[in-house]
Amino acid sequence: MNERVHEMTHPLILHKISMIRDEKTTVKDFRELVYEISLLMGYESTRDLDMIEQTVNTPIAETTGKFIAKQVALVPILRAGLGMVDALMSIIPAAKVGHVGLYRDHETLEPKEYYCKLPPDIDKRQVIVLDPMLATGGSSIAAIDFIKQRGAKRIKLMCIIGAPEGVEAVMNAHPDIELFVGTIDEKLNEKGYIVPGLGDAGDRLFGTI
Ligand code: PRP
Ligand code: URA
Repeated sequence: MNERVHEMTHPLILHKISMIRDEKTTVKDFRELVYEISLLMGYESTRDLDMIEQTVNTPIAETTGKFIAKQVALVPILRAGLGMVDALMSIIPAAKVGHVGLYRDHETLEPKEYYCKLPPDIDKRQVIVLDPMLATGGSSIAAIDFIKQRGAKRIKLMCIIGAPEGVEAVMNAHPDIELFVGTIDEKLNEKGYIVPGLGDAGDRLFGTI
């Protein structure tokens, strides 16, 4: 396995991923579980953030505190990536949020861009791209292309479920990024859905089934 691909092993993450797969999981529970998985994966994916030391005065003494040096930008891929933003914002409240709007043409499976708005200082930030599903990889590859075109240099991609085809495609297209993926499934089916997967993540998050 590529050393830039980090597949989650934490039991809490795997338990919750199994719950969101279940077709009987309600929209409310699905949304809450995506939040919880994103929170746990956010912890795992930020382990290597650069730190700086600054003086802190406690009520007792002066000490040296450690703080995050590089600012973070979260970039959800619309629409399903929106379900992951609040969890990351709760642990990195100073993060700025950009948005990339893409949808897959259901016939060709090609990603179509309809929106892109990023923080102006994206080149100075650690970017974390959010999308629960990495199927063919077309959407993530295109989103990372747009983000790089606007200057971003350090990019991580966080997905909850990936297909082997999509993982390979995105790592080949962007050999400089790191991928944090909850779990890698078996394959894609002929319609480009991940098997076993969880169906359409956006529809299940927003109740548009
Ligand atoms: C889903 C998903 C990813 C994309 C993955 O979005 O959230 O963005 O498909 O597929 P790919 O790896 O083959 O590109 P979709 O296009 O269904 O849009 P939505 O989020 O608006 O539902
Ligand atoms: N997008 C989804 O939401 N689910 C899939 O299985 C594939 C792409």
